[in-house]
Amino acid sequence: MNKFNIAKECSLLLDSNDPLKHFRDRFYIPNGKIYMDGNSLGLLSRDAEESLLSALRDFRELGIDGWMDGEPAWFTFAEELGAKQAYLVGAQEDEVIVHSSNTVNLHNLVCTFFKPKGCRTKILMDELNFPSDRYAIDSQLLLHGLDPAKHAVVVKSRDGKTIEEDDVVEAMTDDVALAVLPSVLYRSGQLLDIEYLTAEAHKRGIIIGFDCCHSVGAVPHSFSEWGTDFAFWCNYKYLNSGPGATASLYVNRKHFDKAPGLWGWWGYNKSKQFDMDPDFRPAPDAGAWQIGTVHLFSTAPIHGSMKIFTEAGIDNIRKKSLNQTEYLMFLIDNLLTGEPYNFKIGTPRDPSRRGGHVALEHDSEAIRINSALKKRGVVPDFRFPNVIRLAPIALYTSYHEIWQVVQHIKEIIDSREYEAFPKERGTVS
Ligand SMILES: Cc1ncc(COP(=O)(O)O)c(C=O)c1O
Repeated sequence: MNKFNIAKECSLLLDSNDPLKHFRDRFYIPNGKIYMDGNSLGLLSRDAEESLLSALRDFRELGIDGWMDGEPAWFTFAEELGAKQAYLVGAQEDEVIVHSSNTVNLHNLVCTFFKPKGCRTKILMDELNFPSDRYAIDSQLLLHGLDPAKHAVVVKSRDGKTIEEDDVVEAMTDDVALAVLPSVLYRSGQLLDIEYLTAEAHKRGIIIGFDCCHSVGAVPHSFSEWGTDFAFWCNYKYLNSGPGATASLYVNRKHFDKAPGLWGWWGYNKSKQFDMDPDFRPAPDAGAWQIGTVHLFSTAPIHGSMKIFTEAGIDNIRKKSLNQTEYLMFLIDNLLTGEPYNFKIGTPRDPSRRGGHVALEHDSEAIRINSALKKRGVVPDFRFPNVIRLAPIALYTSYHEIWQVVQHIKEIIDSREYEAFPKERGTVS
């Protein structure tokens, strides 16, 4: 017998049995809204708010002394937060640092690890990765005088939604020096097998790193165990630290002997940074991949947010997230497929291949249905041309909200309410 049914009572029962339900009270849920966009911009928690206010108080009361006397000290804030995040990705504490933005971190990591030599002159990626990663990699190739058309190996998707790991492995030829892939694809929500891809890359002498923006905070990782070379992720999606929050990166300690690609004084060995020596002496750990001064107020909310993750536990979060996406897909299958609804699910069903969101596809009316949902107070997001992404967030989305979202979509189609909206998408979707 299926563990779910379509009745409202089932959603209420799931909520009452949910061991993580009390975490919802730690978040500000926008008034009257059902927020399903935490995979794009996670909601503010009281904890993150308090840590930001505390940083402001320290600035107000301590001025420059906040560098050492702030609570926590600003000078070592990025290292402290990196150590706190390490368990989320199965890394050692000194292998993670909070710094900069994803795109800048990727530039620095590619500068570090892409050393074209002899016939190994190519970078492997996939056609469904986030565009900024592609831009960064292409520009890095150009900086080496290499034509992206020839030196970027772009693995094609067979269905336009997912990437087959075996196609990636087949593309790992002798001329590939570096591979950069997403952990979870931002549109379909497919989770790639990082362990397998890491092992296959290493068998072929290829360094491999992952864009984990859509997995960290929703999916546990075991980077140390897998030997993954590097990774980077943002703190504004599942980690709920606010728009433009400082990003994070991981470098496996086997690479601590390598100089980072981009040098700056914030990557200097901390104990000697203020010697102001003209010769660069990098920190002996992932801290070396910092460039400039910590962005304190974009970093501070991560401190509060990490308290919640430490309490809730990433394995518990993953368990609930998988159950919530399974429940959402069950309701879609039972209520929104077939005439006149015609929705499809673009996310893999297998839990080991699924991240934290569900891609709901509608071939002709996705834009207008998305707009109608927003008008009703549901906050999804839209990815051109036909994907409505729905992300139940284990820390603050209830099962009953998932049930309500599906009822809203059903009513929007039943009443043809979507027809009142324009067919063009907004500037930010
Ligand atoms: C998967 C993925 N990679 C990279 C980025 C770029 O991040 P940033 O703006 O911090 O450079 C984003 C932004 O949303 C993203 O979703």
